[in-house]
Amino acid sequence: MKVNKAVFPAAGLGTRLLPITKSIPKEMLILVDKPLIQYGVEECIESEIQDIIIITGRGKTAIEDYFDRSIEHEILLKEKGKHDLLQSVKDIANMINFSYTRQKEALGLGHAILCAQNLIGDEPFSVVLSDDIIDAKVPVMKQMIDIYKQYRYSVLAVQKVKDEDISKYGIIKGTEIEKGVYKIEDLVEKPEKEEAPSNLAIIGRYILTPRIFDFLKETKPGKGGEIQLTDAIKSLLSVQPVYALEFEGIRYDGGNKLELLEAQVAFGLKNKDLKDGLLEFIKNII
Ligand code: UTP
Repeated sequence: MKVNKAVFPAAGLGTRLLPITKSIPKEMLILVDKPLIQYGVEECIESEIQDIIIITGRGKTAIEDYFDRSIEHEILLKEKGKHDLLQSVKDIANMINFSYTRQKEALGLGHAILCAQNLIGDEPFSVVLSDDIIDAKVPVMKQMIDIYKQYRYSVLAVQKVKDEDISKYGIIKGTEIEKGVYKIEDLVEKPEKEEAPSNLAIIGRYILTPRIFDFLKETKPGKGGEIQLTDAIKSLLSVQPVYALEFEGIRYDGGNKLELLEAQVAFGLKNKDLKDGLLEFIKNII
């Protein structure tokens, strides 16, 4: 069955980016000229996803407003004859089909995904954590769908991380079955470096079979008192194979201040209108 739907959990509290996240959803922070979440949405469109389901929570209405029409702006831009800008404002609302559901309490990523069960139904789906910004020639979701088509079971995006960062991630234990593709044997959520089975960390892109919902329902709060997706995937492993793909691309953690800044520079230098000015600015200040 084709992967048609993508879930965007966006109900987290964004504590690492406080105080801005008191009133602005992390997903709406700007990366060069677009909110973070739009990069994830564009990645899905390029990967032939048809429907996007965004899990929101209190204080997150800016996300829905952004992907909706903005009649006041449209009237104003029409009156002023700013047709290009008018078109770009309209295009955002027509990018793809959006649905929304709320996670009433931030009980963890696993719980957020469970909130989308009725909207997903009995089909494989993808998950995008839009604060994981990935710069890739081939969209990461497309790379993952290609692997899904081959193996027909869940696929997790993984990346090698430095020893000192291992304890921040879900880490896989697996056997490489083809270049960059691992058959997972076990998963550990945020292990100490000494206990980690590898340095392959799970990054915010997943393709999951609907069977995951059976396990999400049963998963008890784990590390940090949250219902962890990693714990449910670990249980899924007892009934189905799960694969991991070491994707091609550079990933920035948008929930981390330094990496968000690095992404601004990297993406700014890729933007043809901004590149020269940004380069000159960097040369001048260093
Ligand atoms: P993170 O842990 O990176 O995000 O969760 P957070 O909780 O918002 O940020 P910090 O760690 O407190 O700074 C990964 C993803 O899961 C979503 C987040 O919105 C983010 O996209 N999430 C997390 C939920 O939707 N609900 C939750 O209860 C927890």
